[in-house]
Amino acid sequence: MSSQHIAIIGGSSGIGLATAAHLLEKGYRVTITGRDAAKLQAARQNLNNDIATVTMDAAAFGRLGEAFQTIGPVDHLVLALGGGNGAGPFATVDLADVRKGFEQKTLAHFACAQACLPYLSKQGSITFVSAVSAQAAMPGTAGLGAINAAIAALAPILAVELKPIRVNCVSPGVVDTPWWDFLSEEQKEPTFAGFAARTPVGRVGKPREIAEAIAFLIGNGFTSGHTLICDGGIRLGQ
Ligand SMILES: NC(=O)c1ccc[n+]([C@@H]2O[C@H](COP(=O)([O-])OP(=O)(O)OC[C@H]3O[C@@H](n4cnc5c(N)ncnc54)[C@H](OP(=O)(O)O)[C@@H]3O)[C@@H](O)[C@H]2O)c1
Repeated sequence: MSSQHIAIIGGSSGIGLATAAHLLEKGYRVTITGRDAAKLQAARQNLNNDIATVTMDAAAFGRLGEAFQTIGPVDHLVLALGGGNGAGPFATVDLADVRKGFEQKTLAHFACAQACLPYLSKQGSITFVSAVSAQAAMPGTAGLGAINAAIAALAPILAVELKPIRVNCVSPGVVDTPWWDFLSEEQKEPTFAGFAARTPVGRVGKPREIAEAIAFLIGNGFTSGHTLICDGGIRLGQ
């Protein structure tokens, strides 16, 4: 059992929430954050109230200092926040939406890591959650790929600049989470079936599988500057 404290920014849903559940089972103390207080409350009840919650907007850059002061000292930071802005065919994708994607994900991850530093243990770690759009050549993901590749680029640079703090990144493939709720249930099924057919393991991922990859990077003290691709092989482009 560990008494170490982990803050998960974007921990009220999907990958972040599964990571919170997995880390609680491993005996860590966990704080989850998100913008929607009701969602955080529901997540907390889902986890038997065994968790601290802090409502914060990771893209409200001027208020991050206050948010991390509220969270307090942390051993490990996980950045699991992000939405779907920036998706679409390169020829027509709305630049304002791409800009929003950078602000809501790349800059938000960057700013949270920066604001957490005064509270982060030197023996601890930062884990970014990027996306396989950074590694796979999928049409329609130029914006998402650029947004997520920029995040993956941070891991090796910060692993050196912030040493001995370890800095890593997980790059998930397609995972069944509320991220996909912009699709109706009728649309989701054929969409996931299409991704499954292009994925060597033959299915989309489960949030728990990404949580396990994040837990490995938190727990393994000799891994730093690494991007762990956890995508069922979809980047290999069948
Ligand atoms: N699902 C996939 O197929 C997939 C694949 C590759 C990469 N990813 C990446 O994995 C990460 C997690 O995605 P997910 O699938 O778990 O999505 P999700 O279920 O929609 O969860 C996103 C979480 O981030 C929080 N969040 C979003 N914007 C925020 C902000 N500005 N400030 C604070 N919290 C914020 C959300 O809570 P609030 O809305 O209440 O703020 C929620 O807790 C994202 O970065 C996504 O790009 C997902």
